[in-house]
Amino acid sequence: MIVAAGKGLRVGGEVPKQFRMLRGKPLVRHSVERLQAHGAADIVVAIPEGGEELARRALDGIKNVQLITGGTTRQASVRNALEMLSQDAPEYVLIHDAARPFLPSDVTQRLREALVGNPGAIPTLPVVDSLAVAKDGVMTGTAERETLRRVQTPQAFRFSAILDAHRAWDGEPNAGDDAQVLRANGGTVALVDGDETLKKVTFASDLNAQGANMRIGQGYDVHALASGEELWLCGVKLEHDMGLAGHSDADVALHAVVDSILGALGDGDIGTHFPPSDPQWKGAASPMFVEHACKLMREKGYRLGNLDLTIICEAPKIGPHRDAMRTRLAEIMDVHIDQISIKATTTEKLGFTGRGEGIAAQAAVLLMQEEPQ
Ligand code: CTP
Ligand code: MG
Repeated sequence: MIVAAGKGLRVGGEVPKQFRMLRGKPLVRHSVERLQAHGAADIVVAIPEGGEELARRALDGIKNVQLITGGTTRQASVRNALEMLSQDAPEYVLIHDAARPFLPSDVTQRLREALVGNPGAIPTLPVVDSLAVAKDGVMTGTAERETLRRVQTPQAFRFSAILDAHRAWDGEPNAGDDAQVLRANGGTVALVDGDETLKKVTFASDLNAQGANMRIGQGYDVHALASGEELWLCGVKLEHDMGLAGHSDADVALHAVVDSILGALGDGDIGTHFPPSDPQWKGAASPMFVEHACKLMREKGYRLGNLDLTIICEAPKIGPHRDAMRTRLAEIMDVHIDQISIKATTTEKLGFTGRGEGIAAQAAVLLMQEEPQ
């Protein structure tokens, strides 16, 4: 069971945090995929009232997942899902927060093992800082950190034990977690080692942490200069006594751009997507390769942060064409011209570029996670 019925008030924003993107996926999808990978047969996800569309989109294509409407507190959401499951009761249940996306398999394993001798098991971490009891901004006491643990989810239970405990609960309407509910009903809760990577996404900064929603990519390409060929750079045709030779229009700059985007997405290279052996790409206009890479980028939930392109050649001079090239590239990629930088350099007459035998191009991109609308 995954509880994903909260409002995510502390993270803020229009879409509740469990449906926001983190490392290319909606938060809740991480937990569902991990639990399935760890052997969970069926998963029930508690979602907010009216959240069906968001949930369906977030979990698109995943099998063996049922949705149920949660309640006004986390505990009520758990209870709704437990009652639903009780109609065809499993032997064990793991109760997990959608807000903890990165569940390591060894935590799941430890919980399963601990359930053999106990009705409940939870992952915990030691407290490493010393503790102060606070009141009105001053320290009024201390606490023994050796006896304290930080509690995580998933929490694992024999199903009948946790169902009975929830039904019997007469404490606060929102217990801190399910382990407290089981304990209040006399059940033993075993402690296993948790994991720092199981940290809960609570604040907006947790979603943006560690560059988790950015990806970097770089691309490099070379084409030979030859007489009788056209010279295309960044989708702009330049007048020059030589042009670039190649299977397509040989726009070396755009090819480097394509590879940088595919690199950032971790999705092969230009040759994987447009094999030179495939006759349909013969003489193809390279802007369509870039458009295709940008389409893949958007489908994976990213947008361009910025692109930095370097063209390496002795001639022609790139400076006079820089603005036209930036404008054209911005148009092809459907981005603002400010997001695109085009630089040029010679190699001081050294090497193949220096001898005028060819042109090389290097591109670097930063892609940023797109928030769902
Ligand atoms: N949850 C739930 N039903 C509720 C409240 C919370 O299913 N009525 C879920 C959340 O979706 C989350 C988990 O319980 O996966 C842990 O709660 P928390 O981190 O507090 O999430 P929110 O309550 O959504 O956030 P906030 O307290 O900032 O509003
Ligand atoms: Mg909450």
